[in-house]
Amino acid sequence: MRVLFLNGPNLNLLGQREPHIYGKTTLAEIETRVRELAAKMGVEIEFRQSNCEGQLVDWIQEARGIFDSLVLNAAAYTHTSIALRDAIASTGLPTIEIHLSNVHAREEFRHRSLISPVCRGVISGFGVMSYLLGLEAAIVNAS
Ligand code: DQA
Repeated sequence: MRVLFLNGPNLNLLGQREPHIYGKTTLAEIETRVRELAAKMGVEIEFRQSNCEGQLVDWIQEARGIFDSLVLNAAAYTHTSIALRDAIASTGLPTIEIHLSNVHAREEFRHRSLISPVCRGVISGFGVMSYLLGLEAAIVNAS
């Protein structure tokens, strides 16, 4: 089984970025934690980050037929991107939406997700654990 992890804008700054909200763990450290769990579960993963919406759309399109599941922290694009939503719907790849923070406990503009309706489920608010839970959900929901 192959699971693709995609990370959206500003997640490359994790560790320094608003640590009171996102914690002090860097994205590289999160990747290590995910890789350790994936190895234990016998799952192959790919872990990528981009600040560009189009790049994320390209990666989602290319994932078809190569990956069995997608774990997506679309970051701010969660709340704005019809393009990402359409890409997920077009490929039909089972997708788990994840967030480090609890978006529903934050500003109102973060309460709306354009991608949730085309995702299998949402994990939000558990910090690094959101990624690990995302991997477990991806395995259960793989195509
Ligand atoms: C986030 C939540 C989003 O609202 C925000 O724009 C992010 C990160 C999270 O992981 O908590 O960049 O997706």
